[in-house]
Amino acid sequence: MKPFYTFLDTEKQNLTAVLMLNPHNPYTDYPDFKDYIATLALRISSETVLRAACDAIVFDRIEHGNHVHILGNCPIDETLPQLDLDNPVEHKYKAKKTFIGEGFMELMSHLQRTPLFSYKNRNNGDYFTDLVSFNKLKGKKTGFTDGDLIYHSDRSYHPVRADYVSLLGLHVSDNELIYTNYMDVKELKKHLSKSVIETLGKEIFETEVDDLSKENNSSWKKSAVHSILLSNNLIRYQDTFTRPLDPNNFNATKALLELKHAMSKAAKVRHMVKKGEMLIFGNQTGIHNREWIDVKNAEEGRKRWLLKTYSFNNTDKASKYKPWATKEDALCICDS
Ligand SMILES: [Fe+2]
Repeated sequence: MKPFYTFLDTEKQNLTAVLMLNPHNPYTDYPDFKDYIATLALRISSETVLRAACDAIVFDRIEHGNHVHILGNCPIDETLPQLDLDNPVEHKYKAKKTFIGEGFMELMSHLQRTPLFSYKNRNNGDYFTDLVSFNKLKGKKTGFTDGDLIYHSDRSYHPVRADYVSLLGLHVSDNELIYTNYMDVKELKKHLSKSVIETLGKEIFETEVDDLSKENNSSWKKSAVHSILLSNNLIRYQDTFTRPLDPNNFNATKALLELKHAMSKAAKVRHMVKKGEMLIFGNQTGIHNREWIDVKNAEEGRKRWLLKTYSFNNTDKASKYKPWATKEDALCICDS
């Protein structure tokens, strides 16, 4: 997919220089890190390409219903550690000394008016997590592993789900073709009958919890009962994890089969995130997957590192999800 906008080298250098001045660490001092970027965002005038690009992305979502955007040649850290996949989170805390990528992602969220949020039980509540292949999760049912990944919405089993997911390419080998693909609900609906859409809109489905979340809470097996299709062309679905609550419900099973047929037929947006690219996509306006299309060196593929953020689509969502928020931080979400 073609980038929505690609920063010029001079634009990237200027942004990097500004982001480097932030003295705060996003992993140990997130409130101050965020405040610093919020102040910076206020100083960015409407004439700048960055603000214009963010405004254009928001306009494209609202006016045209497009929920996938790519920005090229984004600011990222010049020096990056090779993450130890035995414990990438702890290793990152010790080895990553600059936070240009984090600052850029935070700034993007302010300019798009899509606040970042975090999960308390994921990476110690960090707002910036890493899409990498954890050694301990090899072969497990979670996104933090290698190889292909089924179509899903992130955290489809969780009551609080991101509206947008952003991925920033930090370490990516151009030789290993690893793609992120997206299918929009509006495309899926073109291949579904009215009665199937109606059945998929009923609260008669449930979704299994993935292995990484079970690690933190072994008693948490499934989501609450939910519909697959939600109002405003939204979806809550994870392939092979989302099933009818009652396995003998013929209509629900048939509707799920029809959805799988629609997934085979629907148009997809395909993109390989490259180093310095930022991919932003709707987490509920569609479903996404990962495909290892042509990976010649699996170990090199496993080293792919994308910095990841979750965001809400407006600043009011924090109050909507207050029951799940931690006491200290309205945007840090608990599992129950
Ligand atoms: Fe995902």
